[in-house]
Amino acid sequence: MTRLDIKNWVEKAVHWFEGGRAPRKLDALLLDRPVPSGDRFALASHREALDGLGAKEPIAEQTAGLGDTGFRLDRVKVAQTFDSAHPVRSRSELFGRALELDAMLSATVDFGQHVIIHGARGSGKTSLVRVFGDHADGQGAVVIYMACEPDVSFAALARPYLQALPTTALVPQERAHFQSALAALPETFGPRAFVELVAERVSGPVILIFDEFDRITDTRVKAEMAVAMKLLSDALANVLFVLVGIAHSVSDVIDCHPSLRRHMRVVSLGRIEADSVKELIDAGEATTGLVFKEEARVIIGRASCGSPFHVRMFCHHAAIAALMRGSSSVSGSDARRGLRSAIEQWAAMNREDAQYFLRLVESGVRLPEIEEVAHAAALVDKIPDENESARALLGDTIVVEENGAQTFVFRDSVAPQFLIAYVILAEAAVGLD
Ligand SMILES: Nc1ncnc2c1ncn2[C@@H]1O[C@H](COP(=O)(O)OP(=O)(O)OP(=O)(O)O)[C@@H](O)[C@H]1O
Ligand SMILES: [Mg+2]
Repeated sequence: MTRLDIKNWVEKAVHWFEGGRAPRKLDALLLDRPVPSGDRFALASHREALDGLGAKEPIAEQTAGLGDTGFRLDRVKVAQTFDSAHPVRSRSELFGRALELDAMLSATVDFGQHVIIHGARGSGKTSLVRVFGDHADGQGAVVIYMACEPDVSFAALARPYLQALPTTALVPQERAHFQSALAALPETFGPRAFVELVAERVSGPVILIFDEFDRITDTRVKAEMAVAMKLLSDALANVLFVLVGIAHSVSDVIDCHPSLRRHMRVVSLGRIEADSVKELIDAGEATTGLVFKEEARVIIGRASCGSPFHVRMFCHHAAIAALMRGSSSVSGSDARRGLRSAIEQWAAMNREDAQYFLRLVESGVRLPEIEEVAHAAALVDKIPDENESARALLGDTIVVEENGAQTFVFRDSVAPQFLIAYVILAEAAVGLD
């Protein structure tokens, strides 16, 4: 394929993102790529390409996992299994977080420490705390989970947790006192009143999870949370906080009260290992009856860089591509088609970045260089400081992080994996893979 063809492809794809018709040529190119030369698979049109791709899969593979195993391939099951829009529903769906889970349980159950969890958007914070809550509950703790709202006072943030405390978590002879003291709390109260209310009255271990803590922007409220944590520890209260947010929201809290460090554990969520990605896909196969072929796994693993959100999303789209052609076997071309429809979904919300990425893969910059930059950023959730050429390459798709440090990050933190998806599709279009 010539450079001119790529230009054509990019222009059509941009037009497509802008609401025009899907670029037929791009479809044909992307679908064409995995088919061996001499195959009767035709490029003539998108429809023919889809039909041709379906026809070339062996019949035995198309029905694998159906009938005799009792599985029915259905899109609802696939959607539930690879749902990337909601946190995981159960312990068995959480992969690659054993160390973090242990750290949280050890901190809270064994050492009575508060916990702060931080990680990029979509890194799996909510999934982890929910599964943690399930384990802690199994070990006798009362766990109350809520997500923070912005622009609330300390009192508005804390009161719902107090109201949600079950009476079984209270010292029996203090139950009535607790209820009357809670009812008597003024509209505005601070950390000291909160701690006085619970310190002597909560009997068993209570863990209060504050998800989306980064939505709290009021530094006074953050400082009050830090004070509450410190007072709870000093009072030997049976109440622990788990704050969940992105990195700088954590350092804010610690900065408010440096001596808090002794009373808390910080759990940082990075990427999951390749083995865990494999387990996630294996489990998805077992649940849905689909089979992900090695080429599909390699493509999904390469683009997702260990981000469970992207693994699920790319698997989901690839699975739909296989189902659309009546197959239970997810091939490399299904994975590529999946990347393309995942990009399409993402681009609808991020048109500027999508357009920029399209131009970038067309620009003549070597694709491996683009991937290297995106990969490095995806692993550490920032542009490595020393990489100045990356900053030039990524234009307005990166911004300075809002934490005072001169760190550059993708303005859409889930973008680097999509940039790699573009690279994979562009490679296929120019015949490099
Ligand atoms: N360890 C994991 N194993 C399997 N899937 C995961 C894991 N962690 C996260 N996911 C999936 O990734 C997606 C994002 O997870 P989650 O909502 O927990 O992330 P988050 O960090 O809380 O995101 P946000 O910053 O937007 O609140 C969800 O679909 C979830 O099911
Ligand atoms: Mg979350």
